[in-house]
Amino acid sequence: MPPLDLGVLISGRGSNLQAILDAIAAGRLDARVRLVLSNRADVEGLARAERAGVPTRVIAHRDFADRDSFDAAAVDALREAGATWVVLAGFMRLLTTTFLDAFPHRVVNIHPSLLPSFPGVDAQQQALDHGVRVTGCTVHLVDAGTDTGPILAQAAVPVLDGDDRDALAARILVQEHALLIRALSWIAEGRLQIAPPDVPGGRARATLAGVETALGLAQNGPARGDVGGVGEVGEVGEGA
Ligand code: GRF
Repeated sequence: MPPLDLGVLISGRGSNLQAILDAIAAGRLDARVRLVLSNRADVEGLARAERAGVPTRVIAHRDFADRDSFDAAAVDALREAGATWVVLAGFMRLLTTTFLDAFPHRVVNIHPSLLPSFPGVDAQQQALDHGVRVTGCTVHLVDAGTDTGPILAQAAVPVLDGDDRDALAARILVQEHALLIRALSWIAEGRLQIAPPDVPGGRARATLAGVETALGLAQNGPARGDVGGVGEVGEVGEGA
């Protein structure tokens, strides 16, 4: 398999982007970051990309009349850069079919909850507000809904007594970094299979063949899939 040619979309801090850059540099992910595209200037993620020598673009959503025209510009930039897969790594915009149809089943998102629980913004606070005892993170393919696309892999994270939003978010973030790299590696290995919906208008299913995609509670030591080795990714635990 050739390496994955990634476009990474960010809006801010970029710690998941950093995990990707570190994994590639360490030979743990067979991929190249062709472009880091941010909808906001002056964000930390852009500095991380520049430090890694990766091309960057800022396309400010405020410069566009509507979502479709922003998405069309983003598609052009990604294609021009040679990206054939897209990772949403803290990208805070919904994508339209203008974007999704350009990269069918090739847009991957990392979300800080066990979907379908707590989609949308501040999933960690939503989990605390609901009093759940277990939350986590999800890597999924993106569709036109908010965090509704086919699930690829999930890691569970306990909610501990006394957790506030930042403590919980930091613990989830460690798992996000590991899970995202793991899922992308599995895609790079050619394991992704898409099954069409059983019924018209139904939900497509995504499978990563031959691997354990349900990862266990970090509190209990290495999970079944051995996720969560702190040494596995850089710059963990910085809060979200
Ligand atoms: C992460 O919690 C990610 O799951 C969510 O936004 C946050 C981005 O963090 N979608 P970072 O920019 O990767 O540090």
